[in-house]
Amino acid sequence: MTPSDPISPSVSPPAGPPGLLVAFEGVDGSGKSTQLRRLSARLAAAKIPHTVTKEPGATPLGKKLREILLDPALPASALAQLFLFQADRAQHRQEVLSPALDRGGIVLSDRLSDATMAYQAFGFGLSRELVATLTRVALDGLRPDLTVLLDLPVEALEGRLSARAEGRTRFERLGRDYFDRVRRGYLEIARVHADRTLFLDATLPPDLLEKQIDAELARRFPGRFGR
Ligand SMILES: Nc1ncnc2c1ncn2[C@@H]1O[C@H](COP(=O)(O)OP(=O)(O)OP(=O)(O)O)[C@@H](O)[C@H]1O
Ligand SMILES: [Mg+2]
Repeated sequence: MTPSDPISPSVSPPAGPPGLLVAFEGVDGSGKSTQLRRLSARLAAAKIPHTVTKEPGATPLGKKLREILLDPALPASALAQLFLFQADRAQHRQEVLSPALDRGGIVLSDRLSDATMAYQAFGFGLSRELVATLTRVALDGLRPDLTVLLDLPVEALEGRLSARAEGRTRFERLGRDYFDRVRRGYLEIARVHADRTLFLDATLPPDLLEKQIDAELARRFPGRFGR
């Protein structure tokens, strides 16, 4: 970790808002939505209020941006995509993240800033400095309190995505090497930000992953998650 490394924190992070922000990250099909849904259901059963959100597409503007980003008829350069993702993020922070966190709420986000670093910088080769700077501006310095990283090797990803037409098309278009770079990017980000990352082997059964997530939340945030 060096101060010049853009994915490293160069100064200690300022104290954030009173809420708790938990991000779920990992390559396509790694099980982010599955684990987020399960955690949300457990919190709901325990009557613990929380906000479920995602990037991109959590706000009305974000929904339009998500459609544009996912439309195969609208090719966008890596740099153009980066700006669209950051526009979504700026709106997400203002409309969803900050209001909930300022109230002291628990926020669970299906992808957040690490995804842009992994996909746009490590995957497409955009400057890490640029990605880190734009993310910092879009989030106004906000950082996840915990990132649950579901690590899936590219061979396993291929198998999971082949079950879904949309995922298969994306895999075929972007290629195995691309997803391998993204996965390695996530591993590097997790190494640099080990203090805020829960690293999980996404090939494990969902029930086991759920237990690992619960144990980590209870250990890090005693009382907040009901155990
Ligand atoms: N631990 C697991 N072991 C095996 N299969 C899993 C596991 N978790 C999820 N799956 C399956 O893998 C597929 C992808 O899961 P999910 O949609 O949760 O991933 P995701 O990370 O949200 O994907 P995307 O990036 O496309 O949104 C689904 O068919 C899901 O049932
Ligand atoms: Mg998902």
